[in-house]
Amino acid sequence: MTHHTSSTLSIPMASAIPRHVAIIMDGNGRWASKRMLPRVAGHSEGLGAVRRIVLECRRLGVEYLTVFAFSSENWRRPPEEVGFLMKLFLKSLKGELSRLTENDVSLRLIGDLSRFDSAIQEMVKFSEEKTAGCKGLTFTIAANYGGRWDILQAMRHCLAANPNLKPEQVNEELLQPHLSMAYAPEPDLFIRTGGEQRVSNFLLWQLAYTELYFTDVLWPDFDEAQLHKALDWFGQRERRFGRTGAQTASQVMSDAV
Ligand code: IPE
Ligand code: IPE
Ligand code: MG
Repeated sequence: MTHHTSSTLSIPMASAIPRHVAIIMDGNGRWASKRMLPRVAGHSEGLGAVRRIVLECRRLGVEYLTVFAFSSENWRRPPEEVGFLMKLFLKSLKGELSRLTENDVSLRLIGDLSRFDSAIQEMVKFSEEKTAGCKGLTFTIAANYGGRWDILQAMRHCLAANPNLKPEQVNEELLQPHLSMAYAPEPDLFIRTGGEQRVSNFLLWQLAYTELYFTDVLWPDFDEAQLHKALDWFGQRERRFGRTGAQTASQVMSDAV
């Protein structure tokens, strides 16, 4: 059950390497514009960064890596860009699958996949099944994902599973199993590239006590060295979870023994 502990119900163990890293991969369009290229060239280039960061997280012993690939609000973009992203998504699922299994990485998708065309839905299902036994790293892609959608769909499923539930009986333990990331601990470290300091409807529930790291580096330029920088920064944080600094220090000492 330690995987599922909630940061508001109990205090997670302190660890030097985050168990779960969640990333908003932002800045692809600006990366391309700076080079007089069409925005979509930035998305293609961003795939290389995903590959690097998956492998580096795997190597470092991060257990869960979650990336925001397409938000529920990204449908507002020009149809040509949305269409390109869909094609790129399908192409990279096909192209990367063997690399994932070779590196013992399991793939999970979160988000409302019903809006994607059937070729994507089938490829997602196939990739999840193919990699289900991989234990080195759980790599989650959030696609047509929104934090508010997640909380609402969890609430709907929770009420459906507990039809006689009274309002005063609703609590975190009942809701948690229905959230889309119920299989993972809450993110320890959040990274957003591209310079914006906002959450853009990513994992709203799960980020309650996550350390937030922002960098101006554009996603296609994000590499192993940039990841190490973020991890070093994470290592300096004092995660208090509501307690005093002195209480926190004594827990960190006792976790270490
Ligand atoms: C992030 O890069 C990728 C997606 C949202 C799909 P952007 O496309 O948002 O890049 P900028 O923010 O316009 O530079
Ligand atoms: C957030 O980036 C979503 C993804 C990276 C998939 P956006 O570029 O869509 O966010 P906003 O619109 O600047 O907040
Ligand atoms: Mg953006």
